[in-house]
Amino acid sequence: MGNLTVEFFEKTLRNPVMNASGTLGYGKEIEPLWGIETLGTYVTKGLSAKPHHGNPTPRVWEERNGMINSIGLQNIGVERFFDEYFPYFKKRKTPVIVNFFGFTEEEYLACAAKVKPDPFIVALEINLSCPNIKKGGISFGKEPGAVFEIVKHVKSVTKLPLIAKLTPEVRNIAEIAQAAHEGGADGLTLINTMPAAVVDVKSRNIPIKGGLSGPILKPIALRAVYECSKAVPIPIIGAGGIMNTEDAISFFMAGARAIQIGTATFVDPYAIPKIIRGIDEYLDAHGCSGIGDIVGIARDQ
Ligand SMILES: Cc1cc2nc3c(=O)[nH]c(=O)nc-3n(C[C@H](O)[C@H](O)[C@H](O)COP(=O)(O)O)c2cc1C
Repeated sequence: MGNLTVEFFEKTLRNPVMNASGTLGYGKEIEPLWGIETLGTYVTKGLSAKPHHGNPTPRVWEERNGMINSIGLQNIGVERFFDEYFPYFKKRKTPVIVNFFGFTEEEYLACAAKVKPDPFIVALEINLSCPNIKKGGISFGKEPGAVFEIVKHVKSVTKLPLIAKLTPEVRNIAEIAQAAHEGGADGLTLINTMPAAVVDVKSRNIPIKGGLSGPILKPIALRAVYECSKAVPIPIIGAGGIMNTEDAISFFMAGARAIQIGTATFVDPYAIPKIIRGIDEYLDAHGCSGIGDIVGIARDQ
C-alpha cells in the first residue's frame, strides 16, 4: 500500500475518499460489510437543527444510467447525531464532515452553531440545494448573492472550516464557486443531484420527482470540477457518478483533491473499499508518490 494520505484543513486523512452525504446512513449500517475506518472521512447524512420527517414513498427510483431519490432530507436532528453516533466515530478514529441544511437562513445558522469543534470533525459541509421557504422555494444555491450571504453568515457562527456543496442547477457554476469563496468558504463539494422526474405511462402519473445521481451525472460533475478548480484556489471535493477507479482518477485529474462516492454503494456495497484499493494500485503502477501527483494534470494540459 502506497501513500494515500492527504492534508485537509490541517488534518491528515488516511485517504482522499469519502462517502457522499445521505448514502451511508449514520455510518454504523455498513459495519457488517466493512469498517468505517476504511474511509478518509465519513460525511454525515444531511442534518438539521430539528429532526425532519422527509417525504412519502416512493423515495428511490432506478433509471437507466442513474437513480432518482426523494428522501426529502429525513434525519434525526443534529443533537441526536452527536449524542448517539459521534462517539462511535471517535472510537473508530474516523473523522467526520457534518453535512447540514435548513429551509430558512435561521435554521442553517442554528444547526451550524450546534456543532462544536472537535479533533474528529474535519469541517461542516453546507448543502445549498435546499428550497428557501421565505423566498418562495427557490434554492439557496442558485444565486451568487444568496450564496455569498449564507456562507458569510454561517462562517460567523462557527470556527470549523466550511465546505460549500453546490447544486449543478445553475447557469454558471464557477460564478457560484467564486461567490462561496468570497463569502469565506474553505472548500467546495461539486456536485449535488440534478432535479428529475419519472412518468409511469401505465398509471399515467408521476411516481417520483427528486434528485438524479449516478453515472449520468459524471460528465456534468467533471465539468464543474474542471471549471471551479480553475476559478477558485480552495480545495475541491468531486462527487457525481463515481462508480469505479477510473471514474475516481478522472476527478483527480480534473482538479479534485478528494472525492465522494454515493450511488455506487447502492449498486455494490463494497464499491468504496474497492475504489480506494484501485486508486492505491494506480498510483503505485504509475510511480506516483501521492494523489497530489495527479491532481489537475488533465485540466492543466
Ligand atoms: C439517497 C441519497 C440521499 C442523499 N442525501 C443527501 C443529503 O442529505 N445531503 C446532500 O448534500 N446530498 C445528498 N445526496 C447527494 C449525494 O451526496 C451526491 O452529491 C450525489 O448523489 C452525487 O453523487 P453520486 O452520483 O455518487 O451519488 C443524496 C444522494 C442520494 C442518492
